[in-house]
Amino acid sequence: MIGKGFHSNLLVETAKILFFISLRSLALFAQDAIIARVITEFQVSLRRDLFSRLLYRDTVFYYNVSCGNLLYSCTSAVERVSKLLYSLLHSFIPSFVQFCGVLVYMFFMSPPLTLSLIGTMPLMLTTYNLLERVLLNSTKRLQETAGALSSLLSDTFRNIRLIQSYGAQKYMLEYKLKNILTQLKSQSYQFEYSKAAIVPIITISYALSVLVLLLMSAYLVGRGSLSSTTLITFVSSIAFLIEPLQVIASNAVELRNGEVAWELIRGFLHARPQVADIGTDEPQNVKGHVEFRNVCFSYSMEKHVSNETDYVLSHIQFNVPAGNSVAIIGHSGSGKTTLLELLSRFYDPLRGSILIDGVDCRNMKLASLRKLIGFVPQDAPLISGTILENIALGEIHIDMNRVYYAAKAANAWDFISELEGGFSYDVGEGGCRLSGGQKQRIAIARAVYTDPRILVFDEATSSLDAESEAAIQSALQVIAKNRTVFIVAHRLSTIQSVDLIVVLEKGRIIEFGTPSELLKKNGKYAEMLKAQFSEASIVEGSFW
Ligand SMILES: Nc1ncnc2c1ncn2[C@@H]1O[C@H](COP(=O)(O)OP(=O)(O)OP(=O)(O)O)[C@@H](O)[C@H]1O
Ligand SMILES: [Mg+2]
Repeated sequence: MIGKGFHSNLLVETAKILFFISLRSLALFAQDAIIARVITEFQVSLRRDLFSRLLYRDTVFYYNVSCGNLLYSCTSAVERVSKLLYSLLHSFIPSFVQFCGVLVYMFFMSPPLTLSLIGTMPLMLTTYNLLERVLLNSTKRLQETAGALSSLLSDTFRNIRLIQSYGAQKYMLEYKLKNILTQLKSQSYQFEYSKAAIVPIITISYALSVLVLLLMSAYLVGRGSLSSTTLITFVSSIAFLIEPLQVIASNAVELRNGEVAWELIRGFLHARPQVADIGTDEPQNVKGHVEFRNVCFSYSMEKHVSNETDYVLSHIQFNVPAGNSVAIIGHSGSGKTTLLELLSRFYDPLRGSILIDGVDCRNMKLASLRKLIGFVPQDAPLISGTILENIALGEIHIDMNRVYYAAKAANAWDFISELEGGFSYDVGEGGCRLSGGQKQRIAIARAVYTDPRILVFDEATSSLDAESEAAIQSALQVIAKNRTVFIVAHRLSTIQSVDLIVVLEKGRIIEFGTPSELLKKNGKYAEMLKAQFSEASIVEGSFW
């Protein structure tokens, strides 16, 4: 008969089991919650760190890396690294600790058997390492191809109108995408095969270890130096070694993926800048005297450029007194944009220096230098967002009076006031909801808003009709007063009133002087001017 005491004992035992199960579940929950918190914090701070480093990377860096790779590293690669951390914290480290703990326990039970088990491990580790190397290589290739796919996609969607208007969809699909997908397919097969081979190979090498172990234990039992009880306990402990080994093996893929992704991210985090922001000068009350002193430049900066014909700009030397306007003219590809970009320190000269009020630009803090310059680039880029955000770019506390002033000065106010929402109008990605001329006017307004000492216009009015251009020109004559102005314009009629003209040919200055001096000289400038006048493509009015 089962007594009352038995029932109460059973209840106590069941309650104990329930208590321990609950405690274990709670501990597991706490472990997962802590790990999830660590991973999320890590992911957020890595994304922030990566984005902030990329924001401050120099222009040269962006010429050498594809947009797709950057997108991939900021999104998927960060996730892979987070998964690596998760695997380490959640599975790999606990399994490794369990594996070592069981091994130590077994060693105390039977040192010779444990040593023979350890003796077979190099075989297991070597096969595992070999497989891991194959896995690592195929992971690398796979992630490179994933980056190329991201590049193709971002390029395609950004240029969708171009692709559609030239009917290039088939080419994109059947040539560009097909090539990448074919590569992706074969690399995926290789990756999946090596991934699938890991567990079987580990199992086979493990079985070999057990075989050696059995032979050894038979020998020890035969010699009488191992009791059958110890042998049974030892063999049962092996089961506790299998579990962590399997976990380690099944996490190998996550680890390799994470390692490759981390390498990519680390490269972006620690790339050495070509334009180092190590200057300390923060110039005040700048007048705006600009001097190019024997400046030479080539885009192939890492190579030693011995042949001067490789220079994009060669021995550029000229002075622009504060408050003067200078026009840079020359045929397409002669180096006009490059010269302006050197002034803003998007690159550094290979030789020579650029000075503002006698201070080498490299000695100034990059942010201070850029604050001095209002740059209107050739392609008038806009960021996604409102017109207001685009004019007061980077400002959190926007001065609306200055915004109105800048918009009116750039002849942009008329069209802005007609748009739905006015300054709140969403320009679309890259400004796709505006015309080329409207984008240019916003880019001009942006430069005016910053109230810089030096204004730089690179073909800033090339997309405007004659009337808008004339309106901007007269407004800019007022804005440009007491500022140093650099202007690139193909339409020479627009620059006849500048103080100075630099004529570039194949990266060299072939003429420099006032417009009247150059006209008298009857050289290249006079020739270009005559050619344009005879084409009768002249815009009424002039820039200055
Ligand atoms: N990022 C770059 N990498 C390599 N070469 C470049 C790069 N940008 C420009 N170049 C080359 O440098 C030379 C000068 O280019 P730049 O853009 O300064 O000419 P440009 O005078 O402004 O021409 P355009 O009137 O057509 O705007 C060209 O031969 C061009 O191919
Ligand atoms: Mg240019």
